[in-house]
Amino acid sequence: MVRIAIFASGRGSNALNIIKYFQDYNYVKIELIVSNKKDAPVLNLGKQFDIQTVVINRKHFYKTNRVLEKLKAHQIDYVVLAGFLWLVPSNLVKAYSNRIVNIHPALLPKYGGKGMYGMNVHNAVKAANDTASGITIHYVNEHYDEGNIIFQASCPITPDDTPSTIAQKVHELEYKHFPVVIHQLIDELASE
Ligand code: GRF
Repeated sequence: MVRIAIFASGRGSNALNIIKYFQDYNYVKIELIVSNKKDAPVLNLGKQFDIQTVVINRKHFYKTNRVLEKLKAHQIDYVVLAGFLWLVPSNLVKAYSNRIVNIHPALLPKYGGKGMYGMNVHNAVKAANDTASGITIHYVNEHYDEGNIIFQASCPITPDDTPSTIAQKVHELEYKHFPVVIHQLIDELASE
């Protein structure tokens, strides 16, 4: 059994998509949902799908090993960041080297770094008159959006696009590719 913890700060549409995708695979279990916001809509998925949820605070996350211990207690193999806004501390990065993946709603290395999330990214893409945007799935290291890139997919942007239509296009790419890429990583892990 491969156990996944999803870390998310917001509404959790990617988390939902990943949970639904892996319902068809009995060797993969979404074991935990971890959020830094106690009222984040993503936490509702816990009740809906019978997945344990954990709310973390800054002190525990950055100054203690509590989150790491929780992951170990649940035998977590992979951590998936799906709209998680806090930087991952080095104790987790080290313990889960190449086992923490993030999705970023742009084509890194463009539009990454602290503060570049959600509509901030799509507003910046629009302001730059880019003709394409997309998604980047990457390993997580101690710096925002700088880990090795695993996968990218792009979508065209026309002059008529607004930041919100760009966001829609990017979300479609996220839903299509993120679970599949996670699945591939899991299968590679199993064949190691
Ligand atoms: C997604 O756009 C993802 O790329 C980014 O945060 C957003 C999360 O959206 N990292 P949701 O909470 O999954 O709906």
